Amino acid sequence: MCGVLQRGVSPPEIVVMASGNGSNFEAIVRATREGLLFARVKKLIVDRDCFAIERAKRLGIDWVRLEKPWQRSLTNLLRELQPSLVVLAGFMRVLPPEIVNEWRWKILNIHPSLLPAFPGVEAIRKAYEYGVKVTGITIHFVDEGVDTGPIIFQKALEVRNEWDLEELENHIHELEHRYYPRVIHAVLHGTWRIEGRRVILEEDIG
Ligand code: GAR
Repeated sequence: MCGVLQRGVSPPEIVVMASGNGSNFEAIVRATREGLLFARVKKLIVDRDCFAIERAKRLGIDWVRLEKPWQRSLTNLLRELQPSLVVLAGFMRVLPPEIVNEWRWKILNIHPSLLPAFPGVEAIRKAYEYGVKVTGITIHFVDEGVDTGPIIFQKALEVRNEWDLEELENHIHELEHRYYPRVIHAVLHGTWRIEGRRVILEEDIG
C-alpha cells in the first residue's frame, strides 16, 4: 500500500468526526486556514450533541449529527461525501468492520497515550494514575480493533513530578493540536507505505 497524492489546484476534502469538546477539530480547521495543512474540512460529523458543533458553527464548517442507526447513517454519508480522508478526533465509538474495510488506509485516529499502553477511554487519567514517567500521543490508521491500528506517528512526553492531571491533559492536548494537522498533511500529500504493521512515512514530522 502506497500513499502518494499529488498536490492539485484544489485541496483534498476531508471529514472530521468528533463526540466531545472538538479542540482537535478546531486545530485541524485552523491549520487548513493557516496553510499548514493543504486540505478542506468538508464536514464535521458528530454522533451526539457536543461542543464540537459550536466550534463548527463559529468556524463556518458544515456539520451533521448521525441518525439512528448511526452505522447506516455513517455508511451513507461517507459514500455521499467521498472524502480523501476520514479524521477521527475524539469520536467515541468503534467503527463497524464494514466501514473500516470500505475506507481502509483512509481513516486516521488520534489517541492520548503511547499505544499500545492505555487504549480506550480516559487514557490520560489512566496513565497519570498508573504513575508513568513518559506518556504521549499516537496517531494511527484505524483497523477493526479499539486503538489497535498501524501506528503512523507517536510523540513522547515526560511527566513532571509537579504536574497534576489537568496539567498533563493540557500538555497532551498541545501535542495533539500541533502534530495531528501535520500528520494529516503528510498522509494526504507525502509518500508512505505499509510493511506488515509498520507505516513507513518518508516525511519527518518533527
Ligand atoms: C483527544 O484527547 C483524543 O486523543 C481522545 O479524545 C480527545 C478528544 O478531544 N481520543 C480518544 O481517547 C480515542 N480513543 P477533543 O474533542 O477536544 O478533540
